[in-house]
Amino acid sequence: MSSMQPTTFDLLADHEPAQQPRAEQIGEQSWVLRGFALPIVDQVLSALDALLAAAPLRHMVTPGGFSMSVGTSSCGALGWITDRSGYRYSAVDPLSGRPWPAMPLVLFELAQTAAQRAGFADFHADSCLINQYIPGAKMSLHQDKDEHAYAAPIVSLSLGLPAMFLFGGFARSDKSQRIPLLHGDMVVWGGVDRLRFHGVLPIKPGRHPRLGERRINLTFRVAG
Ligand code: SIN
Ligand code: FE2
Repeated sequence: MSSMQPTTFDLLADHEPAQQPRAEQIGEQSWVLRGFALPIVDQVLSALDALLAAAPLRHMVTPGGFSMSVGTSSCGALGWITDRSGYRYSAVDPLSGRPWPAMPLVLFELAQTAAQRAGFADFHADSCLINQYIPGAKMSLHQDKDEHAYAAPIVSLSLGLPAMFLFGGFARSDKSQRIPLLHGDMVVWGGVDRLRFHGVLPIKPGRHPRLGERRINLTFRVAG
């Protein structure tokens, strides 16, 4: 017997075709991958516990002085931050003064596999933003524009309570699609869709069997 551990790719590929996640196209280069993370969700959740112990969630302040309704942390070489001086990426967690925790391989490979499935080869995320929504928390429509370049897609993983994801156009006022996202679903958008506005409606009260009264979203990006 080999002592080699199965990789994330092996685990995701091991599924019967009938159980393979469904892909729903929501834009020219945008996909919802239903249940994509479920085969490895136990590993994802234990990685997440360790990350949040090392770099706890905190409510950051927008440049305009508002406290965000989501609790935020990061892992990887760069973490997205906001404070009175603006939105940006930082190699250092401002709370600890130390580098963000490294991105666990299981998360890096999950994001890479999802990107591949959506048509984006060689996705090497250097940043993973962790947002925790308790019921009532939301994310207003915005574009992800703080990255150094837009060649790489955005890859998002939803865990815990359901959310209604808004996937809009290239102007804030464009009509948005409403896409329910459940535990284990992933969304990938990039290429011509990279700068689409998106957001999340206030999370409804509820209790998820694994995560309790919260939703956690991980957003993987190439930021640097
Ligand atoms: C984000 O756009 O930063 C978060 C999206 C989500 O929570 O699904
Ligand atoms: Fe975003």
